[in-house]
Amino acid sequence: MNIIIADDYNGMSLKAAGVVAEFINKNPGALLCFAAGNTPAGMFEELIKMHKSKEVDLSSVYYAELDEWVGLGYSDRGSCCQVMFDNYYTPAGIPKEKIHIFDGLDKDTKTQCRLMEDWIAAHGGIGLTVLGIGMNGHIGFNEPYVPDTKGCFVVPLDNVTKSVSIKYFDRPLPVEYGITIGWSTLKDAKNVILIADGEKKAQIVEASLRGPMDPSVPASLMQDHPALTVIIDKGAATRIRGRFSPFR
Ligand code: F6R
Repeated sequence: MNIIIADDYNGMSLKAAGVVAEFINKNPGALLCFAAGNTPAGMFEELIKMHKSKEVDLSSVYYAELDEWVGLGYSDRGSCCQVMFDNYYTPAGIPKEKIHIFDGLDKDTKTQCRLMEDWIAAHGGIGLTVLGIGMNGHIGFNEPYVPDTKGCFVVPLDNVTKSVSIKYFDRPLPVEYGITIGWSTLKDAKNVILIADGEKKAQIVEASLRGPMDPSVPASLMQDHPALTVIIDKGAATRIRGRFSPFR
Protein backbone atom coordinates (compact mmCIF):
# COMPACT_ATOMS: atom_id res chain seq x y z
CA MET A 1 0.00 0.00 0.00
CA ASN A 2 1.35 3.35 -1.05
CA ILE A 3 0.06 6.15 1.16
CA ILE A 4 0.29 9.76 0.06
CA ILE A 5 -0.73 12.48 2.49
CA ALA A 6 -1.39 15.87 0.97
CA ASP A 7 -1.59 19.09 2.96
CA ASP A 8 -5.22 19.73 2.14
CA TYR A 9 -8.13 18.91 -0.15
CA ASN A 10 -6.62 20.78 -3.10
CA GLY A 11 -3.35 18.94 -2.69
CA MET A 12 -5.17 15.60 -2.52
CA SER A 13 -7.15 16.46 -5.66
CA LEU A 14 -4.05 17.55 -7.56
CA LYS A 15 -2.08 14.46 -6.60
CA ALA A 16 -4.95 12.10 -7.45
CA ALA A 17 -5.46 13.84 -10.81
CA GLY A 18 -1.76 13.49 -11.56
CA VAL A 19 -1.78 9.75 -10.84
CA VAL A 20 -4.94 9.23 -12.92
CA ALA A 21 -3.57 11.29 -15.84
CA GLU A 22 -0.34 9.32 -15.81
CA PHE A 23 -2.31 6.07 -15.88
CA ILE A 24 -4.46 7.27 -18.81
CA ASN A 25 -1.43 8.44 -20.77
CA LYS A 26 0.18 5.03 -20.35
CA ASN A 27 -3.00 3.00 -20.89
CA PRO A 28 -5.18 4.42 -23.67
CA GLY A 29 -8.21 2.18 -24.17
CA ALA A 30 -8.31 1.09 -20.52
CA LEU A 31 -11.50 1.00 -18.46
CA LEU A 32 -11.75 3.45 -15.55
CA CYS A 33 -14.27 3.49 -12.75
CA PHE A 34 -14.69 6.63 -10.65
CA ALA A 35 -16.73 7.15 -7.51
CA ALA A 36 -19.21 10.02 -7.59
CA GLY A 37 -19.89 11.78 -4.28
CA ASN A 38 -18.12 14.91 -3.06
CA THR A 39 -14.54 13.71 -2.57
CA PRO A 40 -13.51 13.38 -6.25
CA ALA A 41 -14.98 16.76 -7.35
CA GLY A 42 -11.62 18.55 -7.05
CA MET A 43 -9.80 15.71 -8.81
CA PHE A 44 -12.28 15.94 -11.68
CA GLU A 45 -11.69 19.70 -11.96
CA GLU A 46 -7.94 19.14 -12.13
CA LEU A 47 -8.29 16.38 -14.72
CA ILE A 48 -10.50 18.58 -16.89
CA LYS A 49 -7.91 21.39 -16.71
CA MET A 50 -5.22 18.91 -17.77
CA HIS A 51 -7.47 17.66 -20.58
CA LYS A 52 -7.98 21.21 -21.86
CA SER A 53 -4.26 21.93 -21.76
CA LYS A 54 -3.68 18.62 -23.60
CA GLU A 55 -1.64 17.03 -20.82
CA VAL A 56 -4.02 14.08 -20.96
CA ASP A 57 -6.75 12.87 -23.29
CA LEU A 58 -9.63 11.84 -21.05
CA SER A 59 -11.49 10.54 -24.12
CA SER A 60 -8.82 7.95 -24.79
CA VAL A 61 -10.23 5.61 -22.13
CA TYR A 62 -13.59 4.01 -21.28
CA TYR A 63 -15.68 4.49 -18.15
CA ALA A 64 -17.89 2.30 -15.99
CA GLU A 65 -20.17 3.95 -13.44
CA LEU A 66 -19.39 2.63 -9.99
CA ASP A 67 -22.86 2.81 -8.50
CA GLU A 68 -26.29 4.44 -8.48
CA TRP A 69 -29.18 5.02 -6.13
CA VAL A 70 -31.97 2.66 -7.22
CA GLY A 71 -34.92 4.77 -8.39
CA LEU A 72 -32.91 7.87 -9.29
CA GLY A 73 -31.92 9.14 -12.71
CA TYR A 74 -30.14 12.11 -14.26
CA SER A 75 -32.99 14.51 -13.48
CA ASP A 76 -32.56 13.82 -9.74
CA ARG A 77 -29.96 16.23 -8.40
CA GLY A 78 -27.43 14.18 -6.46
CA SER A 79 -27.86 10.94 -8.40
CA CYS A 80 -24.48 9.43 -9.25
CA CYS A 81 -25.05 9.87 -12.98
CA GLN A 82 -26.04 13.54 -12.56
CA VAL A 83 -22.87 14.16 -10.57
CA MET A 84 -20.66 12.28 -13.02
CA PHE A 85 -22.12 13.86 -16.16
CA ASP A 86 -22.20 17.41 -14.79
CA ASN A 87 -18.83 17.30 -13.00
CA TYR A 88 -16.85 15.14 -15.38
CA TYR A 89 -18.19 13.49 -18.53
CA THR A 90 -19.84 16.57 -20.05
CA PRO A 91 -17.15 19.18 -19.24
CA ALA A 92 -14.48 16.69 -20.34
CA GLY A 93 -16.41 16.04 -23.58
CA ILE A 94 -16.34 12.26 -23.19
CA PRO A 95 -18.31 10.63 -26.03
CA LYS A 96 -21.41 8.76 -24.78
CA GLU A 97 -20.25 5.50 -26.35
CA LYS A 98 -17.25 5.47 -24.03
CA ILE A 99 -19.41 5.51 -20.90
CA HIS A 100 -21.58 2.82 -19.38
CA ILE A 101 -23.86 3.75 -16.49
CA PHE A 102 -26.37 1.93 -14.33
CA ASP A 103 -29.89 3.08 -15.22
CA GLY A 104 -31.24 3.63 -11.72
CA LEU A 105 -34.76 4.10 -13.12
CA ASP A 106 -34.88 0.64 -14.70
CA LYS A 107 -36.85 -1.73 -12.48
CA ASP A 108 -35.03 -4.64 -14.10
CA THR A 109 -31.97 -4.35 -11.89
CA LYS A 110 -30.76 -7.84 -12.86
CA THR A 111 -30.38 -6.70 -16.44
CA GLN A 112 -28.66 -3.52 -15.28
CA CYS A 113 -26.17 -5.65 -13.35
CA ARG A 114 -25.59 -7.98 -16.29
CA LEU A 115 -25.07 -5.11 -18.73
CA MET A 116 -22.44 -3.56 -16.44
CA GLU A 117 -20.71 -6.92 -15.96
CA ASP A 118 -20.66 -7.41 -19.75
CA TRP A 119 -19.21 -3.89 -20.26
CA ILE A 120 -16.46 -4.56 -17.74
CA ALA A 121 -15.65 -7.95 -19.28
CA ALA A 122 -15.67 -6.51 -22.82
CA HIS A 123 -12.95 -4.04 -21.77
CA GLY A 124 -10.73 -6.61 -20.11
CA GLY A 125 -11.67 -5.65 -16.55
CA ILE A 126 -11.17 -2.38 -14.72
CA GLY A 127 -7.74 -0.86 -15.25
CA LEU A 128 -8.05 1.81 -12.57
CA THR A 129 -10.70 2.64 -10.02
CA VAL A 130 -10.77 5.73 -7.81
CA LEU A 131 -12.91 5.10 -4.75
CA GLY A 132 -14.21 7.38 -2.04
CA ILE A 133 -14.76 6.04 1.46
CA GLY A 134 -18.20 6.35 3.04
CA MET A 135 -18.62 7.32 6.70
CA ASN A 136 -19.37 3.65 7.39
CA GLY A 137 -16.41 2.43 5.33
CA HIS A 138 -18.43 1.57 2.26
CA ILE A 139 -16.87 1.68 -1.19
CA GLY A 140 -19.31 2.16 -4.01
CA PHE A 141 -22.49 0.89 -2.40
CA ASN A 142 -20.70 -2.08 -0.90
CA GLU A 143 -22.17 -1.58 2.52
CA PRO A 144 -20.83 -3.25 5.68
CA TYR A 145 -21.16 -7.05 5.51
CA VAL A 146 -21.97 -7.15 1.79
CA PRO A 147 -20.99 -10.66 0.70
CA ASP A 148 -18.04 -11.45 -1.53
CA THR A 149 -20.07 -11.98 -4.68
CA LYS A 150 -18.48 -11.38 -8.06
CA GLY A 151 -20.11 -8.88 -10.36
CA CYS A 152 -22.74 -6.25 -9.64
CA PHE A 153 -25.69 -6.33 -7.28
CA VAL A 154 -28.41 -4.41 -5.51
CA VAL A 155 -27.75 -3.64 -1.85
CA PRO A 156 -30.13 -2.42 0.86
CA LEU A 157 -28.64 0.85 2.02
CA ASP A 158 -27.13 1.05 5.48
CA ASN A 159 -28.70 3.61 7.87
CA VAL A 160 -25.48 5.64 7.86
CA THR A 161 -25.59 5.86 4.05
CA LYS A 162 -29.25 6.87 4.12
CA SER A 163 -28.65 9.65 6.62
CA VAL A 164 -25.54 10.92 4.82
CA SER A 165 -27.40 10.83 1.47
CA ILE A 166 -29.33 14.03 2.22
CA LYS A 167 -26.16 16.07 1.62
CA TYR A 168 -26.40 15.23 -2.09
CA PHE A 169 -30.10 15.88 -2.74
CA ASP A 170 -32.04 19.11 -3.17
CA ARG A 171 -35.23 17.53 -1.80
CA PRO A 172 -36.05 14.55 0.42
CA LEU A 173 -35.60 11.36 -1.60
CA PRO A 174 -36.51 8.07 0.05
CA VAL A 175 -33.54 6.02 -1.13
CA GLU A 176 -33.54 2.41 0.09
CA TYR A 177 -31.30 0.49 -2.30
CA GLY A 178 -28.10 1.04 -4.23
CA ILE A 179 -26.86 -0.78 -7.33
CA THR A 180 -23.13 -1.20 -7.39
CA ILE A 181 -20.10 -2.90 -8.82
CA GLY A 182 -19.23 -5.39 -6.08
CA TRP A 183 -16.08 -5.03 -4.03
CA SER A 184 -14.75 -8.33 -5.25
CA THR A 185 -14.86 -7.07 -8.87
CA LEU A 186 -13.36 -3.76 -7.75
CA LYS A 187 -10.61 -5.70 -6.08
CA ASP A 188 -9.85 -7.33 -9.44
CA ALA A 189 -9.09 -3.85 -10.81
CA LYS A 190 -5.46 -3.64 -11.83
CA ASN A 191 -5.01 -0.40 -9.89
CA VAL A 192 -7.01 1.01 -6.98
CA ILE A 193 -6.84 4.54 -5.58
CA LEU A 194 -8.64 5.37 -2.34
CA ILE A 195 -9.22 9.04 -1.63
CA ALA A 196 -10.57 10.78 1.48
CA ASP A 197 -10.37 14.23 2.99
CA GLY A 198 -11.23 16.00 6.21
CA GLU A 199 -11.10 15.09 9.88
CA LYS A 200 -14.64 13.73 9.65
CA LYS A 201 -13.14 10.79 7.73
CA ALA A 202 -10.18 10.26 10.11
CA GLN A 203 -11.80 7.51 12.12
CA ILE A 204 -13.03 5.50 9.15
CA VAL A 205 -9.71 5.99 7.35
CA GLU A 206 -7.96 4.55 10.40
CA ALA A 207 -10.34 1.57 10.47
CA SER A 208 -9.91 1.07 6.72
CA LEU A 209 -6.12 1.20 6.65
CA ARG A 210 -4.94 -0.07 9.97
CA GLY A 211 -7.86 -2.09 11.33
CA PRO A 212 -8.26 -5.75 10.46
CA MET A 213 -9.53 -6.62 7.01
CA ASP A 214 -13.11 -7.00 8.01
CA PRO A 215 -16.39 -6.98 6.06
CA SER A 216 -17.81 -4.58 8.65
CA VAL A 217 -15.51 -1.98 7.01
CA PRO A 218 -15.58 -2.76 3.27
CA ALA A 219 -12.72 -0.34 2.45
CA SER A 220 -10.44 -2.42 4.71
CA LEU A 221 -10.87 -5.33 2.30
CA MET A 222 -8.67 -3.45 -0.16
CA GLN A 223 -5.67 -3.43 2.18
CA ASP A 224 -3.91 -6.32 0.45
CA HIS A 225 -4.57 -5.14 -3.10
CA PRO A 226 -1.22 -5.38 -4.90
CA ALA A 227 -1.53 -1.93 -6.50
CA LEU A 228 -3.32 0.18 -3.91
CA THR A 229 -2.56 3.89 -3.61
CA VAL A 230 -4.19 5.85 -0.81
CA ILE A 231 -4.30 9.62 -1.32
CA ILE A 232 -5.69 11.55 1.63
CA ASP A 233 -5.25 14.93 3.20
CA LYS A 234 -3.80 15.67 6.63
CA GLY A 235 -7.27 15.92 8.17
CA ALA A 236 -8.25 12.41 7.08
CA ALA A 237 -4.80 11.18 8.20
CA THR A 238 -5.14 12.61 11.72
CA ARG A 239 -5.44 9.21 13.41
CA ILE A 240 -2.86 7.30 11.40
CA ARG A 241 0.08 9.66 11.25
CA GLY A 242 3.16 8.00 12.66
CA ARG A 243 1.83 4.52 12.07
CA PHE A 244 2.90 4.32 8.49
CA SER A 245 6.27 5.31 7.26
CA PRO A 246 7.60 6.78 5.21
CA PHE A 247 4.91 9.38 4.53
CA ARG A 248 5.04 10.96 1.14
C1 F6R B 1 -20.28 7.37 -4.76
C2 F6R B 1 -19.74 6.27 -3.97
C3 F6R B 1 -19.63 6.36 -2.49
C4 F6R B 1 -18.80 7.56 -2.06
C5 F6R B 1 -18.65 7.60 -0.54
C6 F6R B 1 -17.95 8.87 -0.10
O1 F6R B 1 -20.35 7.00 -6.11
O2 F6R B 1 -19.42 5.27 -4.51
O3 F6R B 1 -19.06 5.17 -2.01
O4 F6R B 1 -17.53 7.48 -2.66
O5 F6R B 1 -19.90 7.56 0.07
O6 F6R B 1 -18.76 9.96 -0.42
P1 F6R B 1 -18.22 11.46 -0.33
O7 F6R B 1 -17.11 11.56 -1.30
O8 F6R B 1 -19.40 12.32 -0.71
O9 F6R B 1 -17.78 11.65 1.07
